[in-house]
Amino acid sequence: MSHTNGENAGVDEERTRERDRRHVWHPWSPVRKSGADGPVLVSGEGYRVRDTTGRGYLDAMASAMNSSCGYAHPALLAAAGKQLALLPHFDLSVGSHLPVGRVAERLAGLLPKGLERTLFVNSGSEATEAAVRIAHDHWTNRGEPRERIVTFAAGYHGTTYVAQHLSGLPTNALYGGEPFPVTRVGSPLPPRELRTPAGLAALTGAFESAVLDGPPPAAVFVEPLLNVGGGVVLPAGLLRVLRDLCDRTGALLILDEVFCGFGRTGRMFGFDHDGVTPDLVTMSKGISGGYLPFAALTTTEEVYASFAADPLIGGLRYGHTTGGHAVACAVALAVFDVLEEQKLTESAAALGGHLLDGLLPMLDHPQISDVRGLGLVATVECHRPETAAALVAGAAARGVLLRRQGPCVMAIPPLIIDRDGIAELVHVMGQALADL
Ligand SMILES: Cc1ncc(COP(=O)(O)O)c(C=O)c1O
Repeated sequence: MSHTNGENAGVDEERTRERDRRHVWHPWSPVRKSGADGPVLVSGEGYRVRDTTGRGYLDAMASAMNSSCGYAHPALLAAAGKQLALLPHFDLSVGSHLPVGRVAERLAGLLPKGLERTLFVNSGSEATEAAVRIAHDHWTNRGEPRERIVTFAAGYHGTTYVAQHLSGLPTNALYGGEPFPVTRVGSPLPPRELRTPAGLAALTGAFESAVLDGPPPAAVFVEPLLNVGGGVVLPAGLLRVLRDLCDRTGALLILDEVFCGFGRTGRMFGFDHDGVTPDLVTMSKGISGGYLPFAALTTTEEVYASFAADPLIGGLRYGHTTGGHAVACAVALAVFDVLEEQKLTESAAALGGHLLDGLLPMLDHPQISDVRGLGLVATVECHRPETAAALVAGAAARGVLLRRQGPCVMAIPPLIIDRDGIAELVHVMGQALADL
């Protein structure tokens, strides 16, 4: 079928799907499936996207969980276009460019005091890779090698070999040897009991054993909210417990803000809910609002300075060709402005409250086991993955795109969503549930 109006002009849907089926290898998808089944998108505006048939959807997956400012934001488009014309990029191992210093300075202003040195990469996984490398090399540089990393079994930090090795999620199991020792802390309680004082006590005990038993860890590496692990909200105070354990053992506290960072949870960073300062923080997704691949890792001067002792180059032996890409830096600067001007973090807190209130009645349904949320991350957990799949399909048929992680359905709209969008999201999820 061909479409002759607007941005879909000349798009042959069947031809598009056929081409995709034949030539595109979709990540994290069964062979010969997702390209043929999912929506094929052409454009987006605000919190809506449009497919080849001209149909609009409310995007409650926020692209790949990364849209903060929404689609076609004029300030982001202008920033990208301007920088692209001026200078797309330059090799940061031999020189610099204007936007990279500006973004690094802005990040130092957004992050807690002491976090002032930033390395730029292209994806959350690369930030994880670099963070683990830096933690290991930091200890080697100090002449006291440490290798062990303590993390959540249900954590997800990306898909490079090193990043996948951290996670205990079944889909992340490595096919080869173990590159370094990892202690993975399983959840002692189901998600609905975890965000309570009892959950805090149980997780405190589990992390105490993990950190204190065995050789001192190089780092404790966690997300402030388990994203791929099922949108699991962690108990208030857990990050303070981890900060204390790291202080006692010297381990670096590495917090993965790839998903939570830049307003998603209703605070600038997920760790702001607990008021802690990590030794190293990884960021991606919201930093460029999904407009360009971009990621960052910020650490302390102490960690940075330890690299002067590296025997080969007296610095970090790590970097990517397009890390700190000038256009991505320019977009990130525009994202920071939009976050501030449109008060998107405050809005995520307020609208997230409405979203959660709207979804909580779903708990009365016999097939739902939990409804939870923090800022604009809302999770409806079903007893069975099949129920979650049916909910997602029912919502898509009604024009709302949701994300599924096993038995969990996650609603993660762009931060620029408004009250009407939240009402539509709640209404459609309720209808999809009623139809089960
Ligand atoms: C918390 C967290 N860390 C790291 C990653 C990996 O980021 P990327 O997919 O950009 O490599 C993700 C991706 O979903 C994530 O949610």
